[in-house]
Amino acid sequence: MIKDEIKKKYNLKINEFIKHNKLYYDKSSPIISDREFDQLKKEIIDLEKNYSYLNNPKSPSNSVGFKPSKNFDKFKHRVQMLSLSNAFDKGDLENFEKKILNFLNKKINFDYSVEPKIDGISASLTYLNGILTYGVSRGDGSEGELITNNLKTIKDIPHKIGKNTVPEEIEIRGEVFIEKKDFQKIKDKFANPRNAASGTLRQKDPKQTSKIPLRFIAYTFGYISDEKFKNQSDFLKELRSWGFLTSDYNQIISGIDELVKFHQKFEKKRFDLDYDIDGLVYKVNNIELQKRLGFTSNAPRWAIAHKFSADHAFSEILNIDIQVGRTGALTPVAKVKPVNIGGVVVSNATLHNEDEIIRKDIRIGDTVKIERAGDVIPHVLEVDLKKRKKKINKFIFPKKCPSCGSETEKEFNLITKKFDAVRRCTNEGFACEKIAIERIKHFISKDAINIDGLGKKVVEKFWELKFIKLPQDIYNLNYQKISSLDGWGLQSVSNLKFSIENSKEVTLDKFIFSLGIRHIGIENAKIIADFTKNIKNFFNLAKNNKINEIINMDGIGETQVKSLEKFFNNKININVVEKLMGILKIKNREIKKSGKLINRSFMFTGKLRNISRAEAKSLIEENSGSIVSSVSKKLDYLVIGEKPTNRKVEQAKNLGIKILSQKEWHDLLN
Ligand code: IVH
Repeated sequence: MIKDEIKKKYNLKINEFIKHNKLYYDKSSPIISDREFDQLKKEIIDLEKNYSYLNNPKSPSNSVGFKPSKNFDKFKHRVQMLSLSNAFDKGDLENFEKKILNFLNKKINFDYSVEPKIDGISASLTYLNGILTYGVSRGDGSEGELITNNLKTIKDIPHKIGKNTVPEEIEIRGEVFIEKKDFQKIKDKFANPRNAASGTLRQKDPKQTSKIPLRFIAYTFGYISDEKFKNQSDFLKELRSWGFLTSDYNQIISGIDELVKFHQKFEKKRFDLDYDIDGLVYKVNNIELQKRLGFTSNAPRWAIAHKFSADHAFSEILNIDIQVGRTGALTPVAKVKPVNIGGVVVSNATLHNEDEIIRKDIRIGDTVKIERAGDVIPHVLEVDLKKRKKKINKFIFPKKCPSCGSETEKEFNLITKKFDAVRRCTNEGFACEKIAIERIKHFISKDAINIDGLGKKVVEKFWELKFIKLPQDIYNLNYQKISSLDGWGLQSVSNLKFSIENSKEVTLDKFIFSLGIRHIGIENAKIIADFTKNIKNFFNLAKNNKINEIINMDGIGETQVKSLEKFFNNKININVVEKLMGILKIKNREIKKSGKLINRSFMFTGKLRNISRAEAKSLIEENSGSIVSSVSKKLDYLVIGEKPTNRKVEQAKNLGIKILSQKEWHDLLN
């Protein structure tokens, strides 16, 4: 019975593996992460280790990669292209070295050639008398696809090796990859840089391959007619002299302790590299030893991939805090038992919003999977339900603001016609303490008033000491008192004074932005500033309920108008603006007044050819024109693309507005 269950479990995992293997290698479009894929392989291999009766020809222990695609001719590798076994910690490395010593049956000292494990796809290049003759993908390790012409489009791959040191026949292997900056340009089409490289390399038409800047780093050889290299490191050097690119980070290291040290150092550096790496490869440097060690059925005994530590970990939720942001959004944050994720100790992880907690049914006391990717705030991925204790309650999201006790609400989104996932405090003013602090932090920030001597921490401190409650209080600080605080010397007080004084002169757009009105980011603030021209106009519009007048400006819709109205419906807000108007010197924004389209407004309808709306808009703005988003007397030109909205065209005709084709518009711009 138990045996049957284990077999069933094993077969399910094998089927999963076959599916994901196919998605990864054949279709270049995996739907699970590499780590999950590695984990799945490990689970299968572990089961096989524990239960010797388990066995399947399709198991990862019997196969590498996947059958080549039918798009290309097949090509049998003269020497198999194997994969590497993985190590995740020091124990795995010790095991690896122990096996080597056992295999060689003696105690010897040897070095490792240490190389970054580039996360691309491997390729093999066969040179006959120095001429690149066959270029092949890895395929299933035994047989790959003949993609010589595609590989030849990569500029790092020499078509000819001119040196007489090159053997009559040599197969050079390495990694094809795409640099991070180049991937940015095509990131909408592929899940990650590796898929981009794989997809591009296996295009039917080499011209398509040549469009994307692929790169190639060489790192090993397959068949060689004249084996003259003593060490892997010598071979790497020779590769450079033949015109190949090799990694700048290759090293020679001996001893597990030194390997681990280097790994730790490199793990932090990996994000600074131009390309993705997912670990380090350690190879026994001495090639004679490599030969003796040979291969198991799918990996060399003389090399191992030391993966970088997981970017996720499991920990227990100790509590759920509700943070209140500048716009009143209530953000739940899980306080977790401190856990190390990729070298950083994590004790907070965001749970995003109320809906997310409901969807994932996250409860205090649960063990959860936390992910930390790059520099973003760690977040909770999922609950490990197997670890859930029986008697823990569902988490009830508070319905009152934890800071000021006001009602909270989920707004109805006019565009999506759904209620927001985020719950908000309905207190729009400075009366909610947490909102007020966040607003002051926003007020002093770089794109707003910009007081660099006054950081977020200082704002919190001054708030606590009741030095500031409203933005205008910043301009009325008692410097005497501040200089008597711990950590404040004469110099730092004088710096603070200087940067506060300096901040008094500000442009209208930055001032509007500094108020921290919801939906009024810096771009919208610029639009409003350009429209209202000076602070008086802006303030009068707001106070006299005439904000509707700006709704025709592009970017300003009902949402923005409603938000402005709500802001100015609040007495404290009006008081803040009035006080600041008395303290600050608010200048008009300087607009470049030289462009061809000056004082002319435009609107687009229909699809434009070869240019996005965003680019069209920025072209108009660069030339000092403006954009409006509805047809009114304020509009000078309606530009029509393919399938325009007839109603807009009719309206424009009725109002006598000039109608331009895309070509006529281009002519206007020259
Ligand atoms: S050596 C049998 N060196 O990692 C030796 N491989 O999991 C295997 N890789 O298929 C190749 N950087 O695509 C080697 N410096 C490096 C590597 C490297 C990346 C990839 C390669 C290989 C896979 C093995």
